[in-house]
Amino acid sequence: MSPLLMFLSSIIMVSWADVCPCERPELCQQIQDEKDFEVFVFDVGGKTWKSYNWSVVTTVATFGKYDGELMCHAHSKGARVVLKGDVHLASVVDQSNRTAWITEMVDLARRQFMDGINLDIEQAVEEGSPEYFALTDLVKETTEAFHKQIPGSQVSFDVAWSPQCVDKRCYDYVAIANSCDLLFVMSYDEQSQILGDCIAMANSPVTQTLGGYDQYLKIGVDPKKLLMGVPWYGYDYPCLNFTQDGVCYVAEVPFRGAPCSDAAGKQKTYKWITKQIGSSLSGRLWDDKQQAPYFNYKDPKGQIHQVWYDDPESLCLKTDAVQSKGLRGVGMWNANILDYSDDPVARQQSAAMWNALFGCQPG
Ligand SMILES: *[C@@H]1O[C@H](CO)[C@@H](O)[C@H](O)[C@H]1NC(C)=O
Ligand SMILES: *[C@@H]1O[C@H](CO)[C@@H](O)[C@H](O)[C@H]1NC(C)=O
Ligand SMILES: *[C@@H]1O[C@H](CO)[C@@H](O)[C@H](O)[C@H]1NC(C)=O
Repeated sequence: MSPLLMFLSSIIMVSWADVCPCERPELCQQIQDEKDFEVFVFDVGGKTWKSYNWSVVTTVATFGKYDGELMCHAHSKGARVVLKGDVHLASVVDQSNRTAWITEMVDLARRQFMDGINLDIEQAVEEGSPEYFALTDLVKETTEAFHKQIPGSQVSFDVAWSPQCVDKRCYDYVAIANSCDLLFVMSYDEQSQILGDCIAMANSPVTQTLGGYDQYLKIGVDPKKLLMGVPWYGYDYPCLNFTQDGVCYVAEVPFRGAPCSDAAGKQKTYKWITKQIGSSLSGRLWDDKQQAPYFNYKDPKGQIHQVWYDDPESLCLKTDAVQSKGLRGVGMWNANILDYSDDPVARQQSAAMWNALFGCQPG
């Protein structure tokens, strides 16, 4: 684009800017300060954000509909609000297409008084392919554009629990980490590719999860770029058969080259899980090897299900390592799915989930 055109389009952009929806206009100003410790929250829509523990939240990635009220509230607490960014990689191999997409994202963020973008691109990519290089360039160019046009803005990128081509996501992780502000490590869906027995297992087993961070550090990713992302949801698996020692065999659902996957189960919210335990056959059980809770229940048709999930006890074993590995912070998928009702038990459980972001508390 010529400098004149660029100038003209920036004038047009300003005149397109929406009216600030906040009661106090200064709340529409973007957040600029850097936080030493990040608490990165995914919000999927609705109004449960009103019940978040805002004394700890630093960034909200909004995956639901744009909510001006949420933006104003987050800014009043000094927290960033960032867009969701996803694009089909084959269509941004082309440089001008890529630039057009980035421009569109920056404009959208500016019009909505937002503080950055979370790139959630989980496509399969072959190492050395045109998409492989396009992805690295996309992250770099997106970060440059955001930093330039929205000073102090934050660009983060979501990665799998390990950098070793999980789900055929063979990205240039080191280059990507170096060219954005943060990597949100999704330490969940770790059974997306089951190679052994097709059985129900933990969503985020502790040893495997922590091993993923060691791999990121080993390939040379700066620990200060890494956020530990933990699940506030679990998996409900219908069992095809259920052995005497409590192993639940699940349907064979292949995923990206693996014969079995967690797609045999259904994702369930922590809110659903805490209710369902009450009517389970087993009550809460604990698996010592995976360091995760689970339970069994019978559905109305008589089929046994096994539910694997995380609770404060399993979460804090992971988040304890944030400090020891020198990571930048924590986050969860997703913040909406706790029971934020006035029920005293629910209140206590939800507070315990937020607290578990900061490791196992003494006592
Ligand atoms: C540019 O993007 C559009 C839609 O996003 C896509 O249909 C088109 O094929 C892309 N062009 C190139 C050259 O990749
Ligand atoms: C359960 O089903 C799996 C897969 O169909 C099979 O390999 C296994 O032997 C079965 N176990 C029992 C106890 O029936
Ligand atoms: C919010 O988090 C802080 C820090 O962990 C904690 O001290 C506080 O009690 C929490 N607030 C609520 C309402 O749970």
